[in-house]
Amino acid sequence: MAKFEIWGPNKLKGEITVFGAKNAAMKMIAASVLIQGEVTLENVPDILDIQKEIKILEKMGGKFQRNGHTLKIDLRKIRPGNPDPDLVRSMRASVVLLGPLLARFGKVSIPHPGGCLIGKRPIDRHLQAFKDLGIKVTESEDNYQFNFERLVKDEVKFSKITVTGTENVLLFGSFQEKQITIKNAAIEPEVIDLAEFLKKSGAQIEINDRTITIRGRRNLKPIEYRIMPDRIEAGTFGILGALSGNLKVTNLNPAHIESLLKEFKKMGIRFEKGKDWLYIEKPAKISPADIRTAEYPGFPTDLQPPMGVLLTQAEGISRITESIFENRLGYLKGLEKMGAKIKILNPHQAEITGPTTLHGAKIESLDLRAGATLLIAALISQGKTEIFNAEVIDRGYEKIEERLQKLGAKIKRV
Ligand code: EPU
Repeated sequence: MAKFEIWGPNKLKGEITVFGAKNAAMKMIAASVLIQGEVTLENVPDILDIQKEIKILEKMGGKFQRNGHTLKIDLRKIRPGNPDPDLVRSMRASVVLLGPLLARFGKVSIPHPGGCLIGKRPIDRHLQAFKDLGIKVTESEDNYQFNFERLVKDEVKFSKITVTGTENVLLFGSFQEKQITIKNAAIEPEVIDLAEFLKKSGAQIEINDRTITIRGRRNLKPIEYRIMPDRIEAGTFGILGALSGNLKVTNLNPAHIESLLKEFKKMGIRFEKGKDWLYIEKPAKISPADIRTAEYPGFPTDLQPPMGVLLTQAEGISRITESIFENRLGYLKGLEKMGAKIKILNPHQAEITGPTTLHGAKIESLDLRAGATLLIAALISQGKTEIFNAEVIDRGYEKIEERLQKLGAKIKRV
């Protein structure tokens, strides 16, 4: 088990580049199950979750070749069968293998996909969508068996929005010759990026508001595709700039973090932006904010924890409302240990009173985003912080310590 040791506070300066989006890359690797040829993905981050997904598909006969951030994928010869249950259980995102494997082989069985500690994370909306299309789903204690013969319906309407649920149907539908419509779909940039990938491969996909229409084909073409920049990394680094320095964040799409930039403006945080960069300064004073997470284009739940750190430095009382997950305020306990003034009102809401000078502490990284959050808190804290369970951060951020060291951070992996 590794840990990070950080000595703060550090005034950070310089340029940091955003890598490719984890939550887009994982879906395109899954989409490659549908493609009879070699796929070349560019801008693929080298992170634990992707390494695990590759392992799952290698165990089924897939071939991968990585050269830096370029990944060549050949899944022509994968065998019908089930993905390794232990690996599926260890990673929530593996649920997106379901749609492509089911489409290609007509049947698949998976255990309940695991994940982090941010909520119960059921997959009932995925199950309902597949059942609606005519897929037989047999559930046992910790296992789901899917069998597909023919489509009985051409429309899925999600009762509530789900990102991976939408992606599963999009992936499945891209292999069907009959048209399928998804209503009340997620339209996160990663969903749109996946749709672009599938379109380039030959699927016909149209997106209007929250309705996605897909007419797929069995012979999707091998393609080369560059994955979008990770908007959560972009936002996290932007927040870091506002907290501790003058940072230029590059290789991002500012439109993807518009909801964050809107909050920055209200909080008096100055920034400049270009087509693919953001320059951000630490302001003398930060105004408090009222943050409510929502589906895209609303404020992303994955940026709510790093935003919590910024609110500890705002003058006055800020409020956070987490409306997507039921257990995503756990990181606030870590911030409290570092001296933040936090009042948890209920499992979805908290108040943060600032500004407070944070101090170092020994803390556990709960989930991926909470871990990155404590890391940026440590960079502005007085003294030494130890963050245990560093591997959780490696799930989604490549070589984070090296990239932060280049900005002047005193951080070490032990
Ligand atoms: N939900 C259900 N039933 C379902 C599906 C979802 O109750 O069948 C609930 C979830 O428990 C959650 C809410 O609906 O409370 C939204 O879940 P959604 O399905 O949209 O989330 P997801 O697809 O599991 C993806 C990202 C998450 C990101 C969310 C929201 C991937 C692999 N994961 O999760 O990313 O927070 O969308 O934008 O794409 C992360 O990267 O750290 C991360 C957690």
